[in-house]
Amino acid sequence: MVPRVDDPILDIRGLCKTYQGGLKALDGVDLAIRKGEIFALLGPNGAGKTTLIGAVCGLVRPSAGTMFAFGHDLERDWRAARRRIGLVPQEMATDMFEPVIRTVKYSRGLFGLAPDAARIEEILRSLSLWDKRDTQIRNLSGGMKRRVLIAKALAHEPELLFLDEPTAGVDVELRKDMWRQIGALRDKGVTVILTTHYIEEAQEMADRVGIIDKGRLLMVDEKAAMMARLGRTEAHITLAAPLAQMPAALAGYPVDLERDGGLLVYRGGDGTGKGRAEVAALTKALIMAGIDYVGIDIHESSLEDIFVQLIERREVAA
Ligand SMILES: Nc1ncnc2c1ncn2[C@@H]1O[C@H](COP(=O)(O)OP(=O)(O)OP(=O)(O)O)[C@@H](O)[C@H]1O
Ligand SMILES: [Mg+2]
Repeated sequence: MVPRVDDPILDIRGLCKTYQGGLKALDGVDLAIRKGEIFALLGPNGAGKTTLIGAVCGLVRPSAGTMFAFGHDLERDWRAARRRIGLVPQEMATDMFEPVIRTVKYSRGLFGLAPDAARIEEILRSLSLWDKRDTQIRNLSGGMKRRVLIAKALAHEPELLFLDEPTAGVDVELRKDMWRQIGALRDKGVTVILTTHYIEEAQEMADRVGIIDKGRLLMVDEKAAMMARLGRTEAHITLAAPLAQMPAALAGYPVDLERDGGLLVYRGGDGTGKGRAEVAALTKALIMAGIDYVGIDIHESSLEDIFVQLIERREVAA
């Protein structure tokens, strides 16, 4: 069941897209986006993320379903909604010979907004592009080009911003910088929907996460709730001497003996810290039982582990 949200800024129901040739890129997507949230859409290559964004932004014609943005039916009243929506596309489709500042000004004009030099300067400065404003786009680095796409998407001051893999191919430093900027947009009240292959990015930024695969939304939830529900703790305790069998003192703990009894493996918890507490209790029980150990590795599952599990489970079921 997809949770409904009150008064969504974007409301998608039953969205389907079958491309020419019969490929079903979207297969009955229901999604409601709250005003002011950062929503991360995660999915493997070809899952349908760009198609979904394209449908909302008027670049892909849906085969079925309805989409409302700001209460406007996107099929009938697309223009009214479109000027309030910004898109940072996955692919660069900008004139490479244009200087940075011209292309950003042009993007603003495209939506019928009056020129506003101060606003353009503010956007370029916030993306550290001001010094490059007169440089032709083809002479920028890959990361700078991505920032130009963001500047273009911000030029008409959208309330709902789509970022299709905003940080693909961007170095770690710059990626963190972009996260800060996206956070700042959210603080200004902009609603952000982003797709990413860096699950760490979703874990860092998102309020809610949707997982899409083969055109279907498998799960949509608050990030924290998703991690609490599906998260696990795994601890590897290397014993000083191998055990032939599980000691009675450990009955009741979710543990297994591996590597010929030399490794005690705990798999439990729920992503809320319960696992760590249980591992601490487990080590005390070991000491009380006179079992010595020489090392412990604890791993809390990340959103990435959850994502991989979900997609794999679907692969097995298919
Ligand atoms: N114009 C098109 N014509 C035919 N098939 C298309 C077209 N655009 C996309 N597809 C197919 O639709 C499916 C979904 O593609 P889409 O670009 O939405 O995936 P994605 O989730 O954005 O993937 P990635 O993570 O690689 O960007 C893929 O199988 C793709 O090959
Ligand atoms: Mg894509």
